[in-house]
Amino acid sequence: IKIELLGILSPLLILHWEHGTGSPLCNTPDNAPCVLDHPCDSNIMTQIRSQMGQLNSSANDVFIAYMGQGQPFSSDVDHMCGHGLMSFPPFHANGIEREKLVELYRIMVYFDFSLDDTLKFQKTLYPNDQNLHSKLKSTMDILPGLLSNVLCRLCSKNNMRLTDTIYGLNISQENVFHKKKLGCELLLKYTQLIPYLAWDF
Ligand SMILES: *[C@@H]1O[C@H](CO)[C@@H](O)[C@H](O)[C@H]1NC(C)=O
Ligand SMILES: *[C@@H]1O[C@H](CO)[C@@H](O)[C@H](O)[C@H]1NC(C)=O
Repeated sequence: IKIELLGILSPLLILHWEHGTGSPLCNTPDNAPCVLDHPCDSNIMTQIRSQMGQLNSSANDVFIAYMGQGQPFSSDVDHMCGHGLMSFPPFHANGIEREKLVELYRIMVYFDFSLDDTLKFQKTLYPNDQNLHSKLKSTMDILPGLLSNVLCRLCSKNNMRLTDTIYGLNISQENVFHKKKLGCELLLKYTQLIPYLAWDF
C-alpha cells in the first residue's frame, strides 16, 4: 500500500509542515514552548471523552454503510480488508495522558485526511449513496474539534507543541478496486480502533 503525503493542512491544526523525513508517520513532538490564543475549557478532558464517545457510537454504522456496496468485501471482510495500513500510527493503552494524547492526535489526523479522501472518491463513484456520504461527513465533522481540544490540552498542561509530518492514505493513483479496498481497510481499522480508544480516555 502506498502511503504518501496527503492534503492541505487545516489552519485549525497548528502544525509546522516538514518534508521528506524518510519513513511515513515518523513524527516528533517538539519541546519548543507552545502558545494558545485563548485558554482551554476547564473540562477539556470531558469534552475529549465525549467526542470519542460520539465517534464510538457511530463507528459501526459508518462501516455498515460502506459494506452496503456489497461484494466482494462484504463476504469476507477480515480477509479482504484486515491486513492493510501497515504504516498506521500506533496506540499504547494505559499510558500516561500526554503520550496517549499525542498518539490519539496522530491517529485522528490520519483518519481525518484519509476519510476525506475516501469521501471524495465515494462521491465520484457512488454519487447517490447519501447514506454513506452523510455518515462519513458527520464523523469528519467531529474531528477538527477533537484535534483542537487535544492540542489545547497538550499545550496548556504539558507546554507541548506538535510539529508533525502528517501522512494519510494517498489513493489518487490506484485503480477503482484498489481504492475501494483501501476505503474498506481504513474503515475496518477505524471501527476496530475507536472503541478501544474511547475506552482508554
Ligand atoms: C498521490 O500520489 C500520486 C502518485 O504517486 C502523486 O502524483 C500525487 O501528487 C499524490 N497526491 C498527494 C495529495 O500527495
Ligand atoms: C463503544 O461503542 C460500543 C458499541 O456501541 C459499546 O458497546 C461500548 O460500550 C462503547 N464504548 C465506550 C467506551 O463508549
